[in-house]
Amino acid sequence: MRKQIAAANWKMNCTFQEGEKLMDGILKAEIKLADHQLAIFAVPYPYLLMTRSEVEEEKNYYAAAQNCHHKKSGAYTGEVSAQMLHSLNISYCLVGHSERREYNAETNEMLAEKIDLCLENFITPIFCCGEPLNIREAGTQNEYVAKQLEESLFHLPADKIKSIIIAYEPIWAIGTGKTASTEQAQEIHHYLRSVIAGKYGNDIANEIPILYGGSVKANNAKEIFGCADVDGGLVGGASLVANDFIEIIKALK
Ligand code: PGA
Repeated sequence: MRKQIAAANWKMNCTFQEGEKLMDGILKAEIKLADHQLAIFAVPYPYLLMTRSEVEEEKNYYAAAQNCHHKKSGAYTGEVSAQMLHSLNISYCLVGHSERREYNAETNEMLAEKIDLCLENFITPIFCCGEPLNIREAGTQNEYVAKQLEESLFHLPADKIKSIIIAYEPIWAIGTGKTASTEQAQEIHHYLRSVIAGKYGNDIANEIPILYGGSVKANNAKEIFGCADVDGGLVGGASLVANDFIEIIKALK
């Protein structure tokens, strides 16, 4: 079975102490993950080591960074490189979250550089894509997301793309309380998989987990994750409440 993943994205929330308490609260539930299930916590940089050591003894629980810089190293004050993350034994990193695309002007080309640096440093990128509301209203979301994949991922050879995780997050559903319907989610996840299959073949397309993000909550996770081409979720708001995220982990196929 394809990997099924509950990924938390804390964004710029929680003090260190609150973050520790949140991790403790989630781990206290002692949810044992199956071989094909993962729980990943994308936390602010200063909390990476704490999170990594919290999950160290837990099977298939991982800490992740929320970003890395698109250059290897050098005079980029305030930035964090993929190599630095690797040196902390961090093995997952979000790449291209819509908030970074919007507020930090990240382009598909920059994201392609980040993807390469992550892979060079043994970090699995969780590549985020998704359309804004005006594109969805115009009905051109398929073309929009296909272009995001093509420009940031399709330079990769087959043996590299296999290790990517994709998160489809319609921007109009992020933090808004609006989720895509299960039909909308399944339709575009299936489409994304077909775009990957067109380039790399069915076997590879069927191996790549595609997560859904955008107002995933404890009470809708099961339904969304139940879609054939949805392999779990990238969760913002609800990942900040231990009991809610526990339910979301439990909702994994
Ligand atoms: P949300 O955020 O769950 O609060 O909508 C999702 C995300 O931005 O990853």
